[in-house]
Amino acid sequence: MIDVRDPATGQVIGSVPAGGSPEAIDAIGRAASALPAWRERSGAQRAATLRGAESLMRQRKERLAAIITSENGKPLEESRGEVDYSADYLASAADEAERLHPESVRSRRPDRRLRAIPDPVGVVGAITPWNFPLAMLARKTAPALAAGCTQVAKPSELTPLSAIAFAELLAEAGLPDGCVNIVTGDAATISGAWFSDGRMRKLSFTGSTETGRILMHAAAQHVVRLSLELGGHAPFLVLADADIDAAVAAAMAGKFRVAGQTCVCPNRFIVRASVHGTFAQRLAAAASALVVGRGSDPATKVGPLINDDAVAKVERHIADAAAGGGTVLCGGGRVRVSGCLDRFVAPTVIAGVRHDCLAFREETFGPVAPIAEVGSVDEAIALANATPWGLAAYVMTRDAATLERVGSQLRCGIVGGNVGVISDAYAPFGGCGWSGFGREGGRWGVEEYVSWTYRCDAC
Ligand code: SIN
Repeated sequence: MIDVRDPATGQVIGSVPAGGSPEAIDAIGRAASALPAWRERSGAQRAATLRGAESLMRQRKERLAAIITSENGKPLEESRGEVDYSADYLASAADEAERLHPESVRSRRPDRRLRAIPDPVGVVGAITPWNFPLAMLARKTAPALAAGCTQVAKPSELTPLSAIAFAELLAEAGLPDGCVNIVTGDAATISGAWFSDGRMRKLSFTGSTETGRILMHAAAQHVVRLSLELGGHAPFLVLADADIDAAVAAAMAGKFRVAGQTCVCPNRFIVRASVHGTFAQRLAAAASALVVGRGSDPATKVGPLINDDAVAKVERHIADAAAGGGTVLCGGGRVRVSGCLDRFVAPTVIAGVRHDCLAFREETFGPVAPIAEVGSVDEAIALANATPWGLAAYVMTRDAATLERVGSQLRCGIVGGNVGVISDAYAPFGGCGWSGFGREGGRWGVEEYVSWTYRCDAC
């Protein structure tokens, strides 16, 4: 068995099976057996099951939020938001299930009738991270089911309890046995078994670029389709004409969510010299007012980091930025929380960092806002694009034309204009470059699980 621990205290809050290859193959077998009946259901029938699950999820918000907070550590208020976000994925996928139907295709030849028939990809896999233990699975399961696929899923071993609660909820909503099969245990062993077996026809993964590369190699063996949502390294541009208070509000909303541990958290603040000082001071004032503590405490705005390695990385980034001449305006180190492990980092704002500091070269995944000055909009765009990652980017400006121009020149999958939280279950979430490929959410998310059969009939 694997113990699941509260990241704030280290206390064991549950345990799950340490599944290996036999469990992984057994799950594939169950998903394969369930596939024919599930794919035969109409889109409207599949939508009804998804809507039932959505409704149960909204009713169970408090219970699910408590599970998320207990295993991830994020503040309860954020966990409630995550439950809503997850329910939105079920709702959005249900809409798409109802819309998915064969399409007539225009032909130049009058003696032919052309159609495109949407078929489910088949048995699909999901590997999900610990930062959104419910939403990242809902985001993969809901569209897979909408398209008529059945699924095997491996949640992070740090946060498997939300995934198990989700699978139970789906069963209660009437999802037939075998349609969603959770396997807990070592990711490499489980995914290795799935790839070697060959019956899993697609895998959707959210996690690191490093693991994404390994999965790409493994997928080659049986030519398995992939969606990869890998790391981010989001630039947050504050242009000279920005409304600074609005920019600070957007930065606060995006930067300190899940203690800075999301792939779309602003990681590099790139600010025009004329507003750098004002923006940095106001951001530091707001950040230093955030209450750091256990997620279960209603006053908490920033919870613990997920583990000791995460804390060590964040500290390296802070030390490097300061050593390179950056000024730590607030935070800068750990905060002691009574009765807890030493895993809490104070919201940190560092002004005047070098363009080549560590935090500008790699994702921090923590509550640190390094701010670099730039002399022009073009320099801001060039610095924003000076990375192989490309998930999200943010632009703060009062001018709509500038927003359009800058937004279109940023090399990434998602651009937020004067907002700090861009996540929406109805929109195509995903990146480019080292941030991966494939989209999740809305019709784009469902499309990833559809294989179109082209029918060409003589008539
Ligand atoms: C992520 O961190 O991977 C997802 C963030 C989100 O959906 O908001």
